[in-house]
Amino acid sequence: MTAAYGNRIGGASLSAGTTFDSVNPAHPTEVVGTFPDSDASAVGDAVAAAAEAQRRWAEVPVPARGDLIARAADVIAARKGELARLVATEAGKILVEAGGDVQEAVDMGRFVAGQSRGPLGTTVPSELGRKMAYTTRAPIGVVGMITPWNFPVAIPSWKVFPALLAGNGIVLKPSEHAPLCAERFAECLEEAGLPAGLLNVVHGHGDPGAAIATHPGVGAVSFTGSVPTGRKVASAAMAVGPKVVSLELGGKNAMVVLADADLDLALDGALFGAFGTAGQRCTSTSRLVVHEAVADELVSRIAERAAALRLGDPTDPATDVGPVIDRWAGERIVAMVDRAVAEGAELVLGGSAVDVDGCEGGTFVRPTVLRAEREVSIARTEVFGPVLTVLTVSSLDEAVDVVNEVEYGLSAAVYTRDVNEALRAVDAFDTGIVYVNAPTIGAEIPLPFGGTKHTGNGFREAGARGIEQFSQVKAVYVDYSGRLQKAQIDTNPLP
Ligand code: UN1
Repeated sequence: MTAAYGNRIGGASLSAGTTFDSVNPAHPTEVVGTFPDSDASAVGDAVAAAAEAQRRWAEVPVPARGDLIARAADVIAARKGELARLVATEAGKILVEAGGDVQEAVDMGRFVAGQSRGPLGTTVPSELGRKMAYTTRAPIGVVGMITPWNFPVAIPSWKVFPALLAGNGIVLKPSEHAPLCAERFAECLEEAGLPAGLLNVVHGHGDPGAAIATHPGVGAVSFTGSVPTGRKVASAAMAVGPKVVSLELGGKNAMVVLADADLDLALDGALFGAFGTAGQRCTSTSRLVVHEAVADELVSRIAERAAALRLGDPTDPATDVGPVIDRWAGERIVAMVDRAVAEGAELVLGGSAVDVDGCEGGTFVRPTVLRAEREVSIARTEVFGPVLTVLTVSSLDEAVDVVNEVEYGLSAAVYTRDVNEALRAVDAFDTGIVYVNAPTIGAEIPLPFGGTKHTGNGFREAGARGIEQFSQVKAVYVDYSGRLQKAQIDTNPLP
């Protein structure tokens, strides 16, 4: 019998009437767990529990909060194998990538724990004597988080650890495709000693997410997902706000390969960037922008290697590419490829779903390579599937135009041996992340993660600034002169 889970509210596990099943995308008849299909009332209870726990948590010194986060990272590290198998089973990521997902949460925990003994602000000299002027960070109170299924342990960790460090209580609504991953992540924090009620997890579909966005007790909302849903979350939150709303949305990431590039390296990078995680990363390499002098050779080598990638059960170590998350995702991806072909793109490889022996009912999309002109819609729209669109250019300047002409600005890569060209590209790409001689995926925790344009609204996750979306900066003036001192006036009297 499949295990049934509740919402995690105030340290208790509470059911909520109707339920939904989380299924294994490689074997959709296999139920991973049954979860409450919650409505707004569960969010209300979770906010109340978070608010109560937060009042005590805010009194805990920041380094002690960090120590707890470090212990949580240790628990996740100790349970890495088990968690990675769960990520593979529930989200369909192949085992090595599932391990990377879990490791990213460990890294995040350790990084944030380290920040607990670092600076929280800056001190500036006051223009007046015997007066201190500095900044510090205050908690927001209760923060809400809505997370996707594709990094079902890592992305909750990017939000939860900095929010805890900043002294907040949390209501987390994980994707309905990966609720058990969130449940196990929360369990690790509990095992590390997190006080009950600080991290509440409410499961379901759209309703609890909408309730988080609009609940007056939620001071900040952090959302990772699609642009249309991000817009809805932000406008709903602002209608009852203003609130702090941080958005981490889509990408249409390009890898530029110049004529002098190491093609073996570019080949490995393109395959990993485009077909890793079955192309379902927001950082996936979705466009290959290649110099005409090497385009034919590179495309034929990519097609040959991509055709040999093994589709299969993600828990089988021999599998290169797992399923897409569900049948609807597969239909959407194939329809986008069909439309591209109708618009004049050349289908080099793949383009269809395929049955995989032993994974009946799973939706697998063949690694797909298209050659297209810049105007074709698939050259500009996020696919979120194993589809690489190749665009040919004749110069770096043209490549930069192609990279920048989409509405997204998450990640971009350039392959060249020429350091001048590489650094010109770094300057010119309008993206939040740039790689030189590496694909568009694989960001590390100590640097900020996020993008420009419609990829987000200016916040960054991870890195030194990750805490900003979950705290308020506070400017503090302490006058210890014992008399009234007037800034701007005492030091510069009227002439
Ligand atoms: C995502 O796709 O939502 O840079 C996150 C990467 C990973 C994170 C991706 N470290 O590809």
